[in-house]
Amino acid sequence: MTNPALPAEALILNRVQETEDIFTLQLQLTAPAQQWRLGIQPGQFNMLYRFGVGEIPISFKAISADEQGQPVLEHTIRAVGRVSRALAALPPGERIGLRGPFGQGWPLEQAEGQDLCVITGGLGCAPAVSIIEHAFANRTRYGHIHIIQGVKHSADLLWRSRYEFWAQQPDTTVMMAADVAAPGWPWYSGRVTELIKRLPLRPEQTLVCCCGPEPMMQASAEQLIRQQVPAEAIWLSMERNMQCASGHCGHCQFGADFICRDGPVMPYPRLRDRLGLEGI
Ligand SMILES: Cc1cc2nc3c(=O)[nH]c(=O)nc-3n(C[C@H](O)[C@H](O)[C@H](O)COP(=O)(O)OP(=O)(O)OC[C@H]3O[C@@H](n4cnc5c(N)ncnc54)[C@H](O)[C@@H]3O)c2cc1C
Ligand code: FES
Repeated sequence: MTNPALPAEALILNRVQETEDIFTLQLQLTAPAQQWRLGIQPGQFNMLYRFGVGEIPISFKAISADEQGQPVLEHTIRAVGRVSRALAALPPGERIGLRGPFGQGWPLEQAEGQDLCVITGGLGCAPAVSIIEHAFANRTRYGHIHIIQGVKHSADLLWRSRYEFWAQQPDTTVMMAADVAAPGWPWYSGRVTELIKRLPLRPEQTLVCCCGPEPMMQASAEQLIRQQVPAEAIWLSMERNMQCASGHCGHCQFGADFICRDGPVMPYPRLRDRLGLEGI
């Protein structure tokens, strides 16, 4: 069975409450014949289906292992509406449906031999974990790694120890920004774009992966271009409402592109004229 459009059953092995409204589901596919779905690439997404409620696209965060060494698929989700709240209510032991993997992931091969700059805002950090882990697992393939994460409030920062660990790795820069910072916040107070200005970039040999709210991605991309990074070296991960996830229903249309099929990861020049336009 190799059809990503057909749902597989996934068991919720564990559920981690990351913040008040953000949780991580650790999932194991129940049928051995479905294990090919674990070939999901950084930047791709799955459709998670709460039976009887509905399905939503959620990026893949990581693949870890359970105590027996069996692969575990991780998705981090913010409970914002009908389906995400219904998924949030499920305890370990429940089963959900999973379709995927779908979409175009980060351009990992194109990034090889270059510096990698990963810029995220809010929960955009979840899809970026997979590319950062991939880069560290294949360290010799990449040059300097820059990681920038922006949050609205310092209390929103997820996985602080993970960022601290990455910051200690050689040839790696980690910077964090909070629009509003509580006392004791050791990093920058202000916008991500201000941090980008401080990055020791080598613009002609850098590939940028950016994931977060659209205005933040657009502002970051324009700032990088002002710092001489070529527009075609900047890749954004886009979000739109989805239904089929396979380029048929048109729900995710963005101009001439279907985000589920042509994205979610797309080069900035393809998006530049359409970002911020009303009605698209
Ligand atoms: C390719 C792709 C990858 C995604 N990856 C992730 C991920 O890894 N983790 C994750 O949490 N979400 C992710 N999303 C967003 C997620 O799919 C939506 O949050 C989800 O579809 C909302 O569905 P719902 O039924 O829970 O809410 P709905 O009932 O559809 O919406 C309820 C309300 O929430 C608002 N809303 C919808 N989405 C968001 C949002 N993202 N943030 C704040 N408010 C919102 C709506 O405008 C509406 O007012 C991704 C989306 C795409 C397209
Ligand atoms: S979700 Fe149906 S075309 Fe993209």
